[in-house]
Amino acid sequence: MKYKLLPSLDKRDLEDVLIVPFWEGEVDGSSLGPLKSHLDSVFLSGDFKGKGDQTLLVYSPEGRILLLGLGKEESATSETLRRSYSHAVHILQRLKVKSCHLIAPKGKKLPSEEVLKGVWEGLLLSNYAFNQLKGDTLKEAPPLLEKVSWIGLSKKDEPLLDHIQAVAEGIYLARDLVNGNADEVTPAMLAETARSFEKRSSKLKTTIFDKKWLEKEKMGLILAVSRGSKLDPYLIQIAYKGNPSSKEHIVLVGKGVTYDTGGLALKTAEGMTSMKCDMAGGAAILATMRTIADLNLKVNVTALVPTVENAIDARSYKNGDVYRSYSGKTVEVNNTDAEGRLILADALAYAEKNLRPTYMVDLATLTGNVILALGEHVAGFCANDDKLSEQLMEASAKSSDFLWRLPLWKEYKEAFKSDIADLLNSGGRDAGSIKGAIFLHEFVGKTKWAHIDIAGTAFWSKGRHYNPTKATGYGVRLLVEFLSK
Ligand code: BES
Ligand code: MN
Ligand code: ZN
Repeated sequence: MKYKLLPSLDKRDLEDVLIVPFWEGEVDGSSLGPLKSHLDSVFLSGDFKGKGDQTLLVYSPEGRILLLGLGKEESATSETLRRSYSHAVHILQRLKVKSCHLIAPKGKKLPSEEVLKGVWEGLLLSNYAFNQLKGDTLKEAPPLLEKVSWIGLSKKDEPLLDHIQAVAEGIYLARDLVNGNADEVTPAMLAETARSFEKRSSKLKTTIFDKKWLEKEKMGLILAVSRGSKLDPYLIQIAYKGNPSSKEHIVLVGKGVTYDTGGLALKTAEGMTSMKCDMAGGAAILATMRTIADLNLKVNVTALVPTVENAIDARSYKNGDVYRSYSGKTVEVNNTDAEGRLILADALAYAEKNLRPTYMVDLATLTGNVILALGEHVAGFCANDDKLSEQLMEASAKSSDFLWRLPLWKEYKEAFKSDIADLLNSGGRDAGSIKGAIFLHEFVGKTKWAHIDIAGTAFWSKGRHYNPTKATGYGVRLLVEFLSK
């Protein structure tokens, strides 16, 4: 999306729709200058009140003017603004409009950065469609906005606009990877994507650990899960050193199951249909790495994405068999569908042993259980450190990638007791999301760590406000915010 700043309304192009924002209860049209006279009847009627979901499209002699309600300023946040602007974008999409003019809203209380963030993110995140798999219906697909002209901003606002746009590009990448066919978005393709980042930024160093390396290093759990697939597994590592003088080093780990059939513990057709989303944690981590390099953040981060396909085949790993992890702990697999925690266990143990992280954060579509507990709007997380947990909650509040902490209740460890190995991989479905974290914790050691279960937030059953249906790109805003301090 291209944007420019216009000094005033009279420089605008009459073809473009002009979006004029109003706080609820402050609908007087003064921001419209001479254009106001064309809208007198609207303001006189009082029908347009500026509520957060209210819009009114007016065909005036001065072109199309879209009145956009923002709700009451007292209760406004960047999130209410994102949602209001998604209504505007949806109207423009129906009109097949490719460029528009935006009068920047001014808040009396809400800081101007919050306002700008809400408006620009709402607009950019709504302006996304995954059309690559459409055939004939592509002809009817609405075009996306290509150009925006801002009125009421100055040069000093550009860095923030550019920052937000870089994050939105990251979210588009995560969404594209998750929405893409699982036949195309394979472990090798994710590895290739990570490799391509090196061309974009010299600050990113990608290392692709292949199957031979995984065998040599005895990553028995990643290898076990991948056995039923024709596709080779990889462990993708991306290093970013944005603050060489600091010892702080954050490791991000993302689940990269490019398709989850459940393995021999086969899912139902219905349960499987959304399973192209099972690499959403990995996609969010890859996108975060590209974004923090684009933004030049002053942090040291290493990303690890173990990536496999959990397929079904004569060579599939088996319920009842025991597999040896990188850490040395053995795992009796009592459910081949609890595969995410297996590949993460090897990656976390690898990070703890070799990368000496200050913090580790993993992102994974780990359990259906988190959807039962929290739905699609908020992700559940567990942490073994209160300070890390607070930092994540803060980043969540700032980014509106919502999080809720669940207890890492140690009593549930008992559920993983195996008679023949150190651990089972499934502790049953009750408290399933917490139990997923309990299993992972066994491979974390003393490192400060948080596990975020994004099974509900990463892939939506329907579109809502600025997230279209399916992939949301959840996690990119959260992590970029978390790393921005
Ligand atoms: N990938 C699934 C979790 C999932 C479910 C993600 C729905 C997105 C939407 C995961 O591998 C899985 O199958 N988990 C099992 C764990 C159980 C066997 C302990 C589950 O949630 O049923
Ligand atoms: Mn599974
Ligand atoms: Zn899975």
